[in-house]
Amino acid sequence: MSVPRRGVVLAGGLGTRLFPATLAVSKQLLPVYDKPMIYYPLSTLMLAGHREVLIITAPRDLPLFEQLLGDGGQWGVKLSYAVQAEPRGIAQALTLAGPFLGGQACTLILGDNLFHGPDITRQLLAAQARPTGATIFASEVSDPGRYGVVSFGPGGAVTSLEEKPLRPASSYAVTGLYTYGPDAVDLAGSLPVSARGEFEITDLNRLYLERGELTVECLERGSVWMDAGTHDSLLEASSFVQAIERRQGVKLACPEEIALHHGWLSPDEVLLRAEQLGGPYAAYLRRVAQRQGASGGSI
Ligand code: TTP
Repeated sequence: MSVPRRGVVLAGGLGTRLFPATLAVSKQLLPVYDKPMIYYPLSTLMLAGHREVLIITAPRDLPLFEQLLGDGGQWGVKLSYAVQAEPRGIAQALTLAGPFLGGQACTLILGDNLFHGPDITRQLLAAQARPTGATIFASEVSDPGRYGVVSFGPGGAVTSLEEKPLRPASSYAVTGLYTYGPDAVDLAGSLPVSARGEFEITDLNRLYLERGELTVECLERGSVWMDAGTHDSLLEASSFVQAIERRQGVKLACPEEIALHHGWLSPDEVLLRAEQLGGPYAAYLRRVAQRQGASGGSI
C-alpha cells in the first residue's frame, strides 16, 4: 500500500550544455522526438499514481510552462508551480517545495530525465510505500563520472556516494529520481553550500546514508534511463523514443493515456482533448479512447 506523497518536477536550471538551443527557452520545453521533454518525467510520476505535482521552473520560463501544462485538469491531475530564482542546486528544490509538501513525503524527479520500463513503476511504488528515509535509483552506465556515483560493498551495503568523482568507485550512477520522507525539507535546509555554489542532492542523500536511512534501488537491465541534457543525449533520447513508437505503434509518456489507464479521465474526455489538439498525436488519442469504449465521433 502506497503512502500519500506529492510529486515534484525540477525544471529550472540554465541548460548551458545545450546553448544556444536553450538561450531563450527552458531545456525541459524542447522536444524529445514528438513531445516536450517535461512530459517524460511527469508521466513517470503519473504512472506511479501521482495526481498532485509541483513544477519548479526558472522565472523566465514560468509563463511558457503554464501555457503548456496549465493546472493539469486536461489530464485529471493538479499541477502547481514554484519559481527558483537562481539555479542553486537540486537540493534547493526541496526547500522551495516545502509549502507545497506541507509535511508530506515526496517523489522528486529531474525535468530532463527519461525513464522507460514497467519495472521502474514497480520499483517506484515500492519506494513510495516506505514512509520514512530516502530511496535513490541507480543505473549502470559507461560514463559514471558525469553523475553522482554510488558504490557497494560485500552484501550490497552502500559504501560511498560521491558527486561527479574523477575516479568513480563503481559504474552505478545515481539517476534523477528520488523519494523522501517528510523530514527531507528540513534536512535540505540544513545543508551547506558546496564548493561549486550549489545545494547538492548528493549531500542530502549522504545524510540519509549516515543515518542508515538510505535505500538504493538498482534499475533492472531491461529498464532504460536517459538524461537529455547534452546535444548528443537529447538526440539519443529522441531516437530511442522514435524507435519504440514507430516499431510498436504506441506512444511513450502520453499523459492522456496514463490518465485514462488510472480512470482519471474518461474515454470521452480523451476524445475531447484530441479534438482540441489535432495532428498525429490527436489521432493516437482517438485510438486509445476508442479502444477504451469512447462513445465515438465528435463530442
Ligand atoms: P543540470 O543538468 O545539472 O543543470 P542544467 O539543467 O542547468 O544544465 P547545464 O549543466 O547544462 O547548465 O540539472 C539537472 C536537472 O535539474 C535539470 O532538469 C534542471 C534541474 N535543475 C534545476 O531545476 N535547478 C537547479 O538549480 C539545478 C542545478 C538543476
